[in-house]
Amino acid sequence: MSKTHREVDVAVVGAGAAGLYAALCAAREGAQVALVSAAPLAQTASYWAQGGLAAALASDDSMELHLKDTERAGRGAVRRSAAEILVREAPECVHDLQALGMRFDADRQGRLALGLEGGHSVRRVVHAGGSATGRRLLRALSALVVAEPRIAVLENTRARALWTENQPAYHEQSRPTNSEQSRPSHHEQNHPTNPGRCRGVACEDGRVLSARGVVLSTGGAAAMWARTTNPPGSQGVGLLLAQRAGAQLADLELLQFHPTAVIGVRGREGFLVTEAIRGEGATLHDAAGERFVDELAPRDEVSRAIQARLAQTGASSVGLDMRKIDPALFPNVVGALREAGLDPTRELVPVAPAAHYMMGGVVSDLQGRSTVPGLYAIGEASCTGLHGANRLASNSLSECFVWGRRAARAALDEPLPEPARAEELEALRALSPPPVAGEATRTALWQDAGIERSPEGLERLSNDEHPLARMIALCALERAESRGAHHRSDHPEPDPALEHRHVTLAASGLASWQTWV
Ligand code: SIN
Repeated sequence: MSKTHREVDVAVVGAGAAGLYAALCAAREGAQVALVSAAPLAQTASYWAQGGLAAALASDDSMELHLKDTERAGRGAVRRSAAEILVREAPECVHDLQALGMRFDADRQGRLALGLEGGHSVRRVVHAGGSATGRRLLRALSALVVAEPRIAVLENTRARALWTENQPAYHEQSRPTNSEQSRPSHHEQNHPTNPGRCRGVACEDGRVLSARGVVLSTGGAAAMWARTTNPPGSQGVGLLLAQRAGAQLADLELLQFHPTAVIGVRGREGFLVTEAIRGEGATLHDAAGERFVDELAPRDEVSRAIQARLAQTGASSVGLDMRKIDPALFPNVVGALREAGLDPTRELVPVAPAAHYMMGGVVSDLQGRSTVPGLYAIGEASCTGLHGANRLASNSLSECFVWGRRAARAALDEPLPEPARAEELEALRALSPPPVAGEATRTALWQDAGIERSPEGLERLSNDEHPLARMIALCALERAESRGAHHRSDHPEPDPALEHRHVTLAASGLASWQTWV
């Protein structure tokens, strides 16, 4: 084995909550693991997570109720089999994290202090340090990963390409010359690609890892939108890597907008003010001081209500009144706002919706398997159908752990990859890495694939220079209805015929519809 080629059992790409936990779970099963992280450990998008883990742990809660809330928020598009797994296994994951030493916020009796967020009918969100859950989790998991001799951490290392059998020329969609070319006119087509097994991953620094299973945990793509709550790295890199390796993507039009991102405060543009603060009683007010929405309705509803009020009044933000909230409950939010010169205990916080979470991603099954053998996707990079058309708040961190564990175990059952040939490694090193969205693409996504979408805007976007922006436009054009986070001005209602239907994209770029249950 050369210095630049390493064999492991599992290669995990992305060191957010899902990736760290998957690496730990695989190592606990005795596997040799490589963890590839573009950033230093504990600086990924999960670090920013202010919510927590949704898990039915309270005495007035049940898995059935958690399932019901998940399905209600998901607007007729939740894959029930995935949601059943989540609600069943989320409590186990909380207990496992506690056994690993993670300390969640507790009440005076030592019972978990559960938070309330939009769309949840009872208190269900396990958190740490108030709204510092992501930070605390990532620190704890990163420390465990670093101390685990079976895990080799490749920090500041980017994945360039996935290494597949019969290494294909990239299937990147060629840039269409007009909208018709980018938009398939068919439904229900079996996509033609028959991808070869994934054998490993090539990194930008020239290293190649071969593995039984490669787990993508690269996060979402919300930073491709000009207004976002996400760190700049959330660029859908894993989606492009997977698609180029022959994997199906799905539901790219389903992008959740978080209702309360700070706007117009220098240095804090897009800063997320956690929904848990509304769970404690914070209220939203328009320019006239009126309340105009149930603040704890699911996110799609609250975001659209804010957007409509902004359009009516011409204002750029609404006010979040958290003056009655104990600042000690949310020290990092209050601290960050004060640093920016705004005191939320005395004045309203200017907020508006911002791109937050992609429900779509790499098509993955109940074990996290993509449509390419040996390739897995978990967390926000994946699309199991769990979140439907509108994710229930804090289900995503739970998903990271539930599917992190499932994928780690399943990946270990994959066969050992064939030995690498020198010329294959050279060819891999010559491939170009996935592109990053420039400002023009980010502005175009915000304008044309924002909270309200028109067919004209989407047609325009389908000619964008960025391949993922084009794929997002294509999926959004296919879904000629409004459902959850996807709102089409020309089709303002859901189409009952599209319940539980998902737009999938083959590596060739062809779209087709699938029903997931
Ligand atoms: C929030 O705390 O409002 C965000 C958490 C999430 O996206 O689930």
